[in-house]
Amino acid sequence: MEYALDRFVAAIQAALSATDQVPTALIDLQTPKPNIPADMAFPTFRAAKELGIAPPKLAQDLAATLQFAPDALVGTVETAGPFLNFTLHPERLAAAVITEITHLGDSYGHDDQGHDQRVVVDYSSPNVAKRMHVGHIRSTIIGHSLVNIFRALGYQTIGDNHLGDWGKQFGVIIAAIERYGRPQAEGEAELAQVEALYARYNDEMKDHPELDEVARQRSLLLEQGDPQARQIWQWCVEMTLAANQRNYNRLGVQFDHMLGESFYEDMLPGVIQDALDAEVARRDADGAVVVDAMDKSIPTFLLQRADGATLYLTRDLATIKYRQATFAPAKMAYVVGQPQELHFRQLFALARAINYVPAAIELVHVPFGTVFDTDGQTISTRKGNMIFLATLLDEATARARTVVEEKSPDLSDEEKDTVAEAVGIGAVIYNDLYQDTRRNITLDWDRMLSREGNSATYLQYSHARCCSIIRRAAELPDAGQPADAPVQYAALTHPAEQSLIKHLAKMPWAVREAGTRYAPFVLADWCYTTAREFGVFFEQCPVLRAETPELRAARLALVAATAQALRNGLGLLGIKAPQRM
Ligand code: ARG
Repeated sequence: MEYALDRFVAAIQAALSATDQVPTALIDLQTPKPNIPADMAFPTFRAAKELGIAPPKLAQDLAATLQFAPDALVGTVETAGPFLNFTLHPERLAAAVITEITHLGDSYGHDDQGHDQRVVVDYSSPNVAKRMHVGHIRSTIIGHSLVNIFRALGYQTIGDNHLGDWGKQFGVIIAAIERYGRPQAEGEAELAQVEALYARYNDEMKDHPELDEVARQRSLLLEQGDPQARQIWQWCVEMTLAANQRNYNRLGVQFDHMLGESFYEDMLPGVIQDALDAEVARRDADGAVVVDAMDKSIPTFLLQRADGATLYLTRDLATIKYRQATFAPAKMAYVVGQPQELHFRQLFALARAINYVPAAIELVHVPFGTVFDTDGQTISTRKGNMIFLATLLDEATARARTVVEEKSPDLSDEEKDTVAEAVGIGAVIYNDLYQDTRRNITLDWDRMLSREGNSATYLQYSHARCCSIIRRAAELPDAGQPADAPVQYAALTHPAEQSLIKHLAKMPWAVREAGTRYAPFVLADWCYTTAREFGVFFEQCPVLRAETPELRAARLALVAATAQALRNGLGLLGIKAPQRM
């Protein structure tokens, strides 16, 4: 896709190239620092050195010969010592950007850079028979937004929920259910009861060592496909999925696959053999399969225990092999918390060493930080301040409902519910995405639901304000301006208008950068700046009471474009933008 700013850059490159004074390979343009009154710069140092000319002289020579087409988006060209500075042509940019947004609508900001390529995003990935905790919530939210972003960039995305549905713990769960019976509840409450049975069994085991043996045996039976063990396990998987599904629906999350760890069970002997054949692993005297330290950052680890049991990592190794064979993706991303960094370093190094994935394929761990509660405490089951997804979303919506009640008393009850859900869920999502995901986050409801600071609520209100202006304009008698008259973009000369327009033009770049860096916050930042720029514009430039009908129409077009772009940006983050708040 070529957006207005791409055409601006391309025009500068082509014009510089056409002077025949600099080899194309030496033309690299830069975005100038914020204090420089230019939109793009060509620092001539490297080229000048290569050509044996003084940089300021080269800059001047170029400035004297550069030529642009009459409709180019380039406004002025000026030298500043060794720099050649370019500005955007304000009127042409306004026309280009606003018509681009209007024409592309919901797909403004989308791209085709990913054509024919696939991206696998491994996200959410909670454990069966447990409630989703804050870590899985972060993974779900970050992963969902990455899927949206890659899809918008034209990749075929494959979202996979890598359920933790295999491992020793199932022996205990099966034994516990056999001993105490199945819980009688629904949704997350049912999961909570299974967790309690699991804890109770572990407790009882302390005084009754024979229970340990029973659990071990159940684990073995499950692996061997014993019908009763399988049936209880299957029930656990299904009720976990059902409980989680409600949360996924509220977050708007849909997976393409939910291939849990158990799916790879049959492949495990094969991948262990592959590792042995590639001589990156060896079998110990006691039968364990060991991968020796590959270097200082990758200490030794196991692929199989002496008793034959496989590990989380073994199953992940099979997963990589399967994904490569099945999807042949260009990128595989894993959205998993920071504590698993070493796991992924080991996994990726091993997969490369066995040659499961060609070198050109990106294997990326997208790590994220911890969640702190309002008192600044880390959240953990042990401390008793654990927060589970459904509770979190309920609390968010309830608090949002209070805000809506207070700020938008005119809405109908039904509208209030819809808005509260969008605002509450939006607040939770944005709190996960507004800064680098590696940073820790805090559940600070006042900040999260504030109508002023950097919050989803603020962005949603800005969007709703745009929509309300457009609604009211439609109700006004048309002050002498025929509806189909061409919009006079040249009227948008106010610095606040110019600044907002330039910022809208940057959205496609923000989406691309968010994809390249696996960093939704780049897009969140763009949304936040959009809302602020709009705020300044709104304060300084009357829209409905603009001085002339032409100006009013042009400003309305800008407001509509802002709403559309902001809505698209929020949508890629997974946040809804109600029309009315
Ligand atoms: N179930 C794991 C956990 O809760 C996360 C799995 C992440 N994905 C993966 N392919 N390892 O810690």
